[in-house]
Amino acid sequence: MVKRKIVTMPGDGIGRVVLEEALRVLDASGFKADYIEGDIGWEFWCREGDPLPKRTIDLLEEHRVGLFGAITSKPKDAALAELDPGLRDKGLVYSSPIVGLRQHFGLDICLRPCKSYFGNPLNFIRRGPHGEIVEPMVDVAIFRQNTEGLYGGVEWTNPPQQVYDALMTHPKFKTNFGWAPKEDISVSTRIFTRKMTRRILEAAFNHAMKNGYRSVTVCEKPNVIRETSGMMYKMAVEMQKNEFPHIELWNTNIDAQMMWLTKNPEDYGVIVAGNMFGDIVSDAFAGLIGGLGFACSAQYNPDTGVAVFEPTHGSAPKYASYKVSIVNPIAMIESACMMLEYIGDNDKALRIRNAIAKVVAEGKVRTYDMMKLTGNQDVIDKGAASTREMADAIIRELK
Ligand code: NAI
Ligand code: MG
Repeated sequence: MVKRKIVTMPGDGIGRVVLEEALRVLDASGFKADYIEGDIGWEFWCREGDPLPKRTIDLLEEHRVGLFGAITSKPKDAALAELDPGLRDKGLVYSSPIVGLRQHFGLDICLRPCKSYFGNPLNFIRRGPHGEIVEPMVDVAIFRQNTEGLYGGVEWTNPPQQVYDALMTHPKFKTNFGWAPKEDISVSTRIFTRKMTRRILEAAFNHAMKNGYRSVTVCEKPNVIRETSGMMYKMAVEMQKNEFPHIELWNTNIDAQMMWLTKNPEDYGVIVAGNMFGDIVSDAFAGLIGGLGFACSAQYNPDTGVAVFEPTHGSAPKYASYKVSIVNPIAMIESACMMLEYIGDNDKALRIRNAIAKVVAEGKVRTYDMMKLTGNQDVIDKGAASTREMADAIIRELK
């Protein structure tokens, strides 16, 4: 049998550390693949002037499925200062390679599941009606439109004259902003297309169907942002009626959702939102289940099948310099589980998740974040597990 090929993109900082541990766990689960490493990140910006070299894009084009660690991004000036002196006058501008991957491959569907592990000391707790402590078990899957909306990149400060003139034809623009000099105006657009809105809604409803969730919640603000949020909600209503009558459709406003989040997080199933609100609501839910050490994600294009799986956290450069790594590898390992599910290896994903669940519930092996310690090098002396020890504990449960 031909072994499956997976593109690994460790990137920078702790991305390299956690990806290595995830591969060891995949190995221990019996998953067999050839891993082909793709160059990505800061090193390649500094050396070649491109943090996402074409050879890495080609690799992903060929093999379709990628595991990504994390990258370091720095502001424009800092990036230029670290660029190889021989490349400095070539007019190169740094841009985030993960955003580059999203755009190049049109990875428009972003899924961020947030599920509590029983016994995780970082789980959200609240008081019940009689003052008792209640620990709601959260199990939501957030679908975030990944390529459009406020992150679509269509924006200007001091917009070109044609753009300004076009805006002036809108009565609201004229009334609310017509008084301001053009050069003092910044515009960031929020553009939704029917096609991409349909795709993210479809992905959300299908996920609910397949995984036994009762409801899909559109988390936008259609009463105020009438066109974009309004279009998404209207399309969701139609879709639910015609294609998914057995799934309940709920509608929340992003601001109210942030408040309800801590009141009844256990009531939500699948949540779907545009790019910015999806980013916000997924970080908020991640906070209820343990934060960055537990937050995983998938980004994919349903047409081409290209998919990249990554933890939500970044490269945490300070931590990468520690002799013994202390960061939590679970977010990366969970991302690897999402990859297994994506390629249809659900049994192995389930086994790994069960192994994580056991380690968390037992509570003997905990990384510093799970002990609520400040992330200094001395946490190991205080009883925290290292990154490797956490992965080892999960591997022991797998065997
Ligand atoms: P970060 O996520 O790298 O780290 C923030 C803090 O979260 C850390 O200081 C640490 O306390 C904690 N943390 C992160 N991962 C953890 C883990 N696995 N276990 C335990 N604790 C963990 O975000 P920060 O510091 O804002 O950014 C650092 C670099 O990462 C920047 O250059 C930024 O641009 C980049 N970044 C990259 C992302 C990506 O690759 N997708 C996402 C976010 C930031
Ligand atoms: Mg975010």
